[in-house]
Amino acid sequence: MEYIIRIVNLKKRFGQKEVLKGVNLNIVRGKTTVILGLSGGGKSTILKHIVRLLVPDSGEVWVEDVNMATADEETVFRMRKKIGYLFQSGALFDSMNVYENVAFPLREHTKLKEPQIRAKVEEKLRLVGLNPAEVLTLYPDELSGGMRKRVGLARSTALDPGIVLYDEPTSGLDPITSDLITRLIKKTQENLGATSVLISHDIKESFKAGDYFAFLYDGRIIEYGDKEQFKNSQNPYVRQFLEGRSEGPIKVVR
Ligand SMILES: Nc1ncnc2c1ncn2[C@@H]1O[C@H](COP(=O)(O)OP(=O)(O)OP(=O)(O)O)[C@@H](O)[C@H]1O
Ligand SMILES: [Mg+2]
Repeated sequence: MEYIIRIVNLKKRFGQKEVLKGVNLNIVRGKTTVILGLSGGGKSTILKHIVRLLVPDSGEVWVEDVNMATADEETVFRMRKKIGYLFQSGALFDSMNVYENVAFPLREHTKLKEPQIRAKVEEKLRLVGLNPAEVLTLYPDELSGGMRKRVGLARSTALDPGIVLYDEPTSGLDPITSDLITRLIKKTQENLGATSVLISHDIKESFKAGDYFAFLYDGRIIEYGDKEQFKNSQNPYVRQFLEGRSEGPIKVVR
């Protein structure tokens, strides 16, 4: 088993709140790993450390042979080119239309000429089920939530990165579009041998997409396994989560 990302004893607090208390997680190259856990538990915080949008209080975040926690800026820039990131919010540039948004990483990281950029942008939009002719000139505030998410997805995969981090790619989408996106994640992984890290609250979609599953609870990964192992986990916290019960060892404060 070859690991492309290795997170070692990652700790992070925000003020008084200790969010990550020692996360250990290895991501298998060429496969999809799903991180599940409660809302507010720190899943997005883990992803942000992988691209060094956050610096850990302690611990290591290895991507290939680079520790992102301590790498210099030039190395971070070089590594980010290999990592696509679909932000939970979509995070499009409001002042740019759809075309400019999807073209942005191509302009930033490649020397492609305009016709090639245009072809790539259109291809990526079609893959996420959007019609280029209809959406290219629209601005983010003219898109529905689900369209914004899909434009974000087109942008995060524009460079055909070897690693893609998907933070809730299907939230807010109808079940059919969700299935399209899940298939796209699968296809990207299979065709390009890409590694995916997927955060999702949609258990059904994550079981369609995922090869390996990690459960984050109370600042640590408390369960990890392949699909069969995870589905059959006897960990009471995992069971409660998978069965969607508010009664159990996990107390949700209201
Ligand atoms: N930059 C920040 N400054 C202060 N607190 C933060 C920051 N980023 C995250 N947090 C806090 O860290 C905790 C974990 O947030 P995070 O977004 O990682 O959770 P999550 O598991 O992704 O939740 P969700 O499933 O709702 O997206 C939350 O309590 C959040 O308020
Ligand atoms: Mg999140």
